Amino acid sequence: MASPSKKQQQKQPICHPKIMVRWWSKDTVAIVTGANKGIGYALVKRLAELGLSVVLTARDESKGSKAVNSLKELGLERNVCFCQLDISDPVSVRSFVSWFKSRFDGFDILVNNAAVCYNTMGENSIDHAETVINTNYYGSKLFTEAMLPFFHCSASTSRILNISSRLGTLDKLKNAKMKALLGDKETLSEERIDMVVNLFLQDVKEGIWKMQGWPEIWTDYSVSKLALNAYSQVLACKYEGVVSVNCFCPGFTQTSMTDGKGNHSADDAAEMAATIALLPPKALTTGKFYAGSTSRGVFSKL
Ligand SMILES: NC(=O)c1ccc[n+]([C@@H]2O[C@H](COP(=O)([O-])OP(=O)(O)OC[C@H]3O[C@@H](n4cnc5c(N)ncnc54)[C@H](OP(=O)(O)O)[C@@H]3O)[C@@H](O)[C@H]2O)c1
Repeated sequence: MASPSKKQQQKQPICHPKIMVRWWSKDTVAIVTGANKGIGYALVKRLAELGLSVVLTARDESKGSKAVNSLKELGLERNVCFCQLDISDPVSVRSFVSWFKSRFDGFDILVNNAAVCYNTMGENSIDHAETVINTNYYGSKLFTEAMLPFFHCSASTSRILNISSRLGTLDKLKNAKMKALLGDKETLSEERIDMVVNLFLQDVKEGIWKMQGWPEIWTDYSVSKLALNAYSQVLACKYEGVVSVNCFCPGFTQTSMTDGKGNHSADDAAEMAATIALLPPKALTTGKFYAGSTSRGVFSKL
């Protein structure tokens, strides 16, 4: 029988969440951003159910406390704790770091889940482009950089999972120059990603963004995820053998970001995200973009 092509191999499901190899313990610490609702909340719940210690973070103190209380009602109080964190606010990031240092000697898993999108389905406004870029790209970057020194730094267990989107994959970029700039893995750098993002914001300011070949659906959000994907590549390269860095797109999920529309629930998306976040040490990848779908499970696109 002929062996599957590279493309077929990439589309085969990674593994089923229910048959994960259990390599973690209650001393394995995971941090999830933007976890007061949606996929972030469901992921904290799933990781806590699986027996990890999870730090639930939320930018709004009262929403975060409420989320933790509802997990306590599910009997997960021993596995979950809360700290306020607005990833786009350097003061909040600094105070999270002090809080964290006073309670933990390190951590193993960072899930950059927090994000904003100001468009509803079928809409494409760029009125909040700066906030979207500052949160989804620069905010995730700011928090990652602040937390990198606190990884337990075990090549087989330390990992970052950036919750991204298929809307931000390179094929959505029609601008050949930008595509070449972001597509060349050998020369890709943080400076280059920031330059591309600045060019987008400049196009927005000048009112010419529609003509420049930027992604056509939820353009500002897509550019923010394009930048996050590229940043993940840079990090994966820089920390190869130290910390694994992958991206995961949960697919069209019923959360407030999609006005409750979607092909599956936040719990389904979290189950898939947990599979990737908890890849067994022997199967741990880096620099990959995983996508999830209810019908096909989790598969690698890159
Ligand atoms: N839903 C989908 O179909 C879909 C598809 C592809 C990718 N994704 C990605 O999946 C992730 C989760 O999205 P979701 O669908 O669960 O959306 P969601 O329900 O809107 O949740 C987003 C979370 O991010 C938080 N957040 C926003 N800005 C923040 C900041 N500056 N600091 C800290 N937290 C912040 C929100 O807090 P507040 O409650 O305070 O606003 C909320 O907890 C996002 O990265 C999103 O891009 C979602």
